[in-house]
Amino acid sequence: MGSLNLLRVVTIPLLLGSLLGSTAFAQSPTYGVGRTPTAEEIRRMDISIGPTGEELPPGRGSAKEGAQVYAQKGCVGCHGAAGIGGLAPILQSKQGADVPVWKKERILPLRAPHATIVWDFINRGMPLGLEGTLTPNEVYSLTAYLLFINKVIPEDQVLDKQSLPKVKMPIGDEYGKPHQFKLNAPRLEGYPY
Ligand code: HEC
Repeated sequence: MGSLNLLRVVTIPLLLGSLLGSTAFAQSPTYGVGRTPTAEEIRRMDISIGPTGEELPPGRGSAKEGAQVYAQKGCVGCHGAAGIGGLAPILQSKQGADVPVWKKERILPLRAPHATIVWDFINRGMPLGLEGTLTPNEVYSLTAYLLFINKVIPEDQVLDKQSLPKVKMPIGDEYGKPHQFKLNAPRLEGYPY
């Protein structure tokens, strides 16, 4: 047996042992550290929505409804009327339709590669300080509203589990391009995004 093989024979069980050991330790009654999460706790944390939208809950919403929710839920207080003029980041581009998306402001309902990301962000992170209080219908409506004011979807488009993942975001397949790296050049010099 070569020394490399010997190393594998020794390190893999050791690694496994330490991984298994640490899990066991975290829930060990001996040390009173950690406990098995309840099904409800896992359910509350398991909220990530992928690009296909398969994890999306049932519900629906349009931009008109979203405009009302935006006012009722206090979004306006931080982000300003129609997403402009508040202290929090702007949510509507001030640039014209002819300006390429990478030259516009860094706004999630414009820059996100998938509309499901906008839904996920609002659902998990907004309104700031009262996260997790929006119903699925409210999140669908707010997503529709923010996509509408950025001219990504028409005002009457209804978003739901089926239609949301199909929304074509302005970025298309032009995700952030990697920086042209030259030896000894500062890593982010001229990085446009
Ligand atoms: C208390 C102030 C506050 C309220 C209320 C609030 N937001 Fe925000 N929001 C913020 C701040 C601050 C950020 C920036 C967070 C960050 O970049 O991590 C943000 C970020 C966002 C973003 C991402 C912006 C981007 O382009 O990256 C969206 C979308 C958004 N909020 C939507 C909403 C909606 C919809 C509501 C109402 C349900 C809402 N917010 C209510 C403060 C607020």
